Amino acid sequence: MRFLAAILLAVVSLSPPSSGKVYSQCELAKELKCVYGFAESSLADWVCLVQHASAYNTTALTVNGGRPRSRNYGLFQITDYYWCESAIGTNECNIACSRLADDDIADDVACAKEIFRRQQFRAWSGWRSYCENKNLSSYTRGCNLTC
Ligand SMILES: *[C@@H]1O[C@H](CO)[C@@H](O)[C@H](O)[C@H]1NC(C)=O
Ligand SMILES: *[C@@H]1O[C@H](CO)[C@@H](O)[C@H](O)[C@H]1NC(C)=O
Repeated sequence: MRFLAAILLAVVSLSPPSSGKVYSQCELAKELKCVYGFAESSLADWVCLVQHASAYNTTALTVNGGRPRSRNYGLFQITDYYWCESAIGTNECNIACSRLADDDIADDVACAKEIFRRQQFRAWSGWRSYCENKNLSSYTRGCNLTC
């Protein structure tokens, strides 16, 4: 019994520390505002976007059909076809795609801001389908956004 517990403990402590953070709505809204300086008025759009892109999963990875096969990385599901370094397309954010698939979202946010600077929210098809012209008040309702 003690032996089993020791094995279990070893296995648990061996698992990688960053095995993929999943945010809650309010946690994300607050971090975008307080850590990354997003305007409070934009938070509901960003939270809605992330909900429909990755369901708040920092390590979400989607492989698209079609040729060439592109992939979408991380919280904002950023495509390697335009924004990060891969065998296909361009690398407009100047970043390794793998850095968009870990639970450090600082670089994801920087790239998302660059995408937004060029194309606004329209760059994200999920935002167009689920967030554009919708009442988004529920995405930040009840969140404490005091920094
Ligand atoms: C997050 O995405 C990764 C990669 O697709 C997946 O393995 C993991 O199960 C997801 N986590 C949750 C909580 O859905
Ligand atoms: C959005 O919905 C909330 C309740 O769900 C409501 O209080 C608010 O007035 C609505 N805003 C607009 C612009 O319709």
